Amino acid sequence: MLAEDNLLELRNVYREFRIGTALFGTTIAAVDGVTLRLKSDLPAILSIVGESGSGKSTLARMILRLLEPSGGQVLLDNENVWESKTKDELISFKRTVQPIFQSPHDSFNPLRPVSDSLYDTALNLDLAKSRVQAEEYIAQSLKDVGLDWKRIQGRYSTAFSGGELQRVSIARALLPRPRLIVADEPVSMVDASLRMNIINLFAELKETFGISFIYVTHDISTAYYISDVIAIMYRGEIVESGAVKDVLSDPYHPYTELLLGSVPSIGEKWASRIELSGMEIEEYNLIGCKFYPRCQRRQEHCHNVRPRLVSMGDRSVACLIYRDDMDKHAS
Ligand SMILES: Nc1ncnc2c1ncn2[C@@H]1O[C@H](COP(=O)(O)OP(=O)(O)O)[C@@H](O)[C@H]1O
Ligand SMILES: [Mg+2]
Repeated sequence: MLAEDNLLELRNVYREFRIGTALFGTTIAAVDGVTLRLKSDLPAILSIVGESGSGKSTLARMILRLLEPSGGQVLLDNENVWESKTKDELISFKRTVQPIFQSPHDSFNPLRPVSDSLYDTALNLDLAKSRVQAEEYIAQSLKDVGLDWKRIQGRYSTAFSGGELQRVSIARALLPRPRLIVADEPVSMVDASLRMNIINLFAELKETFGISFIYVTHDISTAYYISDVIAIMYRGEIVESGAVKDVLSDPYHPYTELLLGSVPSIGEKWASRIELSGMEIEEYNLIGCKFYPRCQRRQEHCHNVRPRLVSMGDRSVACLIYRDDMDKHAS
């Protein structure tokens, strides 16, 4: 396998939404030209971090083939995820990429035992020909997340705690032995005391099975703890990305600085959480830098010029402060 082979590649991915009424509404770019890459040779955990409304879930849903991009391309193993697919190609896609959502209680039908949902996944993804055969897979996946089939079998989702049920949904995602798991705020509804167990489980699954993760969160502390690579999102754009230790120990973008400033101490990474104020629609539609209204380091031209995400060594940043540096890098 060539080193530059990509498991996942997003090329200038864009998604707009119409909000408000037809007459008085406006269009916002919830995801506004996102480009990123996950290599296939080395499993990695990529955190996508941003405050509420920054477009993280929209991005995750486009990767999971749940929401169609308005522009750009999502490539998995160099194949366009959004090209029409045969039934077999769809199954192959779902075997490669699996989701974990925020609310485990919404991920299971409350009227059926959770074990039925596990059987469904095993049979729909053609992992087994019969329930008896499926049971082997299911028991193994449950064991991989520290659960016992005998305890799970026949029980309804309402009988589980959030943390336990989220483990069941991780077991379900593991059934096809995917190469990528996209987890959208997977611990934000889990009891604080159990969050770390689930976060650690991701790292374990990465090591044991070579699964890559996209971990979507508004919580920079867990992102710091778990990820290899981090991408910071603001108003639909990635404003900074790179190795997590580099980005969070020496942030380049004023927004990353602001996020870190909201964490009392990165050493107390587990205790702290970030909730910033809600989004303002106008900021999505600024001509220049979307962070301009909140930026402590803004310059006059930032109002009119939209910064692009540009590489600076192993890292990338979208900020005009570095424009001179970028020119040097480019030449
Ligand atoms: N189905 C939708 N219809 C209209 N607007 C949407 C829809 N989904 C998301 N949005 C808007 O897109 C923006 C990004 O949302 P989202 O991707 O859910 O952000 P995040 O997950 O970072 O909180 C928000 O302003 C949100 O209101
Ligand atoms: Mg979200």
